[in-house]
Amino acid sequence: MSEAHNEHESLIKTPKQLIAAVIAGFLVPIVVIVLLVNYVGNNALTGAGSSAMTEKAIAERIAPVAHVEIKDASAPRVYQTGEQLYKAVCAACHAAGTAGAPKVGASEDWAPRIKPGYDEMLKIALAGKGAMPARGGTSPDDVTDYEIGRAIVYMANASGGKLPEPAQPAQPAAGAAAPASGAAAASGADAGSAAAAAAAMASLKTAAPAAASAGGNLDAGKKLYDTVCMACHASGVLNAPKFGDKAAWAPRIATGIDTLHTAAIKGLNAMPPKGGAAGASDDDVKAAVDYMVNAAK
Ligand code: HEC
Ligand code: HEC
Repeated sequence: MSEAHNEHESLIKTPKQLIAAVIAGFLVPIVVIVLLVNYVGNNALTGAGSSAMTEKAIAERIAPVAHVEIKDASAPRVYQTGEQLYKAVCAACHAAGTAGAPKVGASEDWAPRIKPGYDEMLKIALAGKGAMPARGGTSPDDVTDYEIGRAIVYMANASGGKLPEPAQPAQPAAGAAAPASGAAAASGADAGSAAAAAAAMASLKTAAPAAASAGGNLDAGKKLYDTVCMACHASGVLNAPKFGDKAAWAPRIATGIDTLHTAAIKGLNAMPPKGGAAGASDDDVKAAVDYMVNAAK
């Protein structure tokens, strides 16, 4: 045995080192035991009788399942065409030029906006501007920037523009070619109308305070209609009775103006209470109903 070897075998040379070694010998297992107890204890908290089983915690855990979720996250992404997204969402304002939106087909509305370039238009559409809600009110979870871009190109090119289709982003999943199956198309349409409703809601956040004026007259009604109700009623989003469509309104008008007032204030199926404009007064909502009913007589 060499001297070097001996040195390696005995690391404890002084009484001080011996004491340190003894203390460490006690402490390390104790620390390990404390950590283990903690670990087991924490686990026990997720079992029966713990806070994890309270109604609230359970409701939170099952919440995502309780929603009707049409999307299949694992399926290859099927992008809406510009025309599809336009019809489902943007048309609510851009078809008729509601709320000052550049009207599709009106090249004089679009020329000054096309001039600064596609990127500038995309930036405004994503961020919102005036009565134009950010992303047309859609959520980035439902509608990608790419699809917004396609809708812009669709609208601009239908209005005298000559923009190229935006480049499709790379598909993260393996399923390369996205098949436009019936199911996928249907889910796109559903997401579209949901997005349109979201658009309606989002536009209220900015528009509603302006509409909440005093007086239950037709002026106030028109104002609220132009800023809120038109988001769905102008083009019949979510099957809302279309503005000015006598056939759609006649059976509803027949139920009496009070019924319509109440439905508009309290909501009816896909129609949110007050059209989503929680800040609007009952009188203004009634006035908006009167305005819509007058236009459909
Ligand atoms: C609630 C009504 C509303 C909806 C829904 C809506 N827009 Fe708009 N949009 C507007 C208004 C109002 C303007 C004019 C804003 C301004 O210039 O003050 C506008 C302007 C625009 C512009 C022109 C921006 C520029 O360069 O000046 C683009 C592009 C646009 N919208 C795209 C879209 C797209 C795409 C959608 C659908 C995804 C959509 N909009 C949905 C109301 C709407
Ligand atoms: C998010 C979309 C949306 C918005 C915004 C919206 N509506 Fe509606 N509205 C609907 C839908 C959808 C229906 C059809 C409901 C049904 O009959 O199932 C409807 C129906 C109605 C009816 C007929 C009710 C009946 O009894 O037949 C009235 C009146 C009405 N809306 C008024 C308004 C007014 C006023 C506003 C604005 C303050 C407004 N809506 C905003 C979607 C909307």
